[in-house]
Amino acid sequence: MKSINLNITFQQYNDLNELNELDKTLCGLAEQALAGSYSPYSKFRVGTAIRLASGEIVLGSNQENVAYPSGLCAERVALFSIGANNPNAVIQSMAITAQTDAFEILQPVTSCGGCLQVMVEFERRQKLPIEVIFYCINGEILKVPSVKSLLPFAFVEERLEG
Ligand code: THU
Repeated sequence: MKSINLNITFQQYNDLNELNELDKTLCGLAEQALAGSYSPYSKFRVGTAIRLASGEIVLGSNQENVAYPSGLCAERVALFSIGANNPNAVIQSMAITAQTDAFEILQPVTSCGGCLQVMVEFERRQKLPIEVIFYCINGEILKVPSVKSLLPFAFVEERLEG
């Protein structure tokens, strides 16, 4: 038996002003994406902005449904849209933020396991890391250099890959 220790390195920023211009813009766009959220059930809006290597920005927001499990998280809305419309795109970075009128969000909202699994697949597909920025509008910002570090035990089975 042996114990194995995994370390994650990420950056923590106090506010937007500490970010570089590209990241600051991306966070601002994630905040704008909140406007597209359809979340009448949870009343919890999530927005994401994804920057492609081409410079193009793709927005996404959570889309709920009265059949609750039929809804989809903001991250997957944006990622699957890229996959469907621009399958050879290279993703550089994604910023994610959330807002609700029900309570104050004081910590960055991090992505659910299902979204992380999808992010891992996009990263593996493009063979280049995807930066993830978790942006708390009234709090700190976390920046992770690669999705892999967020889900080290992602499901991967190369023999199932095409
Ligand atoms: N949600 C996201 O959009 N992304 C996540 O990573 C976690 C949760 C959404 C789903 C649902 O519409 C609402 O937040 C409350 O769970």
